[in-house]
Amino acid sequence: MDEGIAQTRELGAALGPYHPLIINNTDKLKDISGLDEVSYHMSGTEAVMQAVRLAHYHTGKKRTVVFCGAYHGWWDGVQPGIGNPRKVHDVYTLKEMSNDTLRVLKTRKDIACVLVNPLQALNPNGGSSSDSMLIASDRSAHFDKEAYTVWLKALREICTKKNIVMIMDEVFLGFRLAKGGAQEYFGVQADMVTYGKTLGGGLPVGVVCGKAELMKRYKEHKPTDICFARGTFNA
Ligand SMILES: Cc1ncc(COP(=O)(O)O)c(C=O)c1O
Repeated sequence: MDEGIAQTRELGAALGPYHPLIINNTDKLKDISGLDEVSYHMSGTEAVMQAVRLAHYHTGKKRTVVFCGAYHGWWDGVQPGIGNPRKVHDVYTLKEMSNDTLRVLKTRKDIACVLVNPLQALNPNGGSSSDSMLIASDRSAHFDKEAYTVWLKALREICTKKNIVMIMDEVFLGFRLAKGGAQEYFGVQADMVTYGKTLGGGLPVGVVCGKAELMKRYKEHKPTDICFARGTFNA
């Protein structure tokens, strides 16, 4: 039997009857992200939803941190402010590249995860660049790679110390900066990474890569305590 098909059968319980190429793609994504496991979703928004839900599930903490101006999809769980009719109580929107933020992360005990959209390196705390934004042709795009690297490393350190899941949302940037995305470019390893957009070459897709312990949807000692995730086209 073709090795790919055998592997697909082995993974059948998790992936269903999918094409063997999925195995290759999964291996590539693990390699690119530097993480253990991969789950597939329909959009970047869903990938972020999944990553955030898993972070809450595994840490047992209730709050999510996002940074000013950063976009992480239209889900009301991470989109505080205009355009979201639900008042969001479990999201803290903090300043990026700020010592105040590091202090908050260091001192609070309720923060499950921090979402980083590395596109914000271009305009920390400003309105996010987006598909619908008009950009003047005379603009001079600039960002301080060194300063943003220092920031991400400081964030990484605190997240590790405080058991906060660091989620790098690479849905927008994808692999534009380097083969390993923003993680490689800035030299920072996140606990979970989301990808989407060009990853599907025009087809709808969202991906979460994460550490094995964070990707687990049930608790060994409490098998009925599951982290529900399902969708016709998710796996
Ligand atoms: C950083 C980031 N995260 C998440 C999303 C949401 O992805 P989607 O539009 O596929 O739901 C976007 C979309 O622009 C994005 O830029």
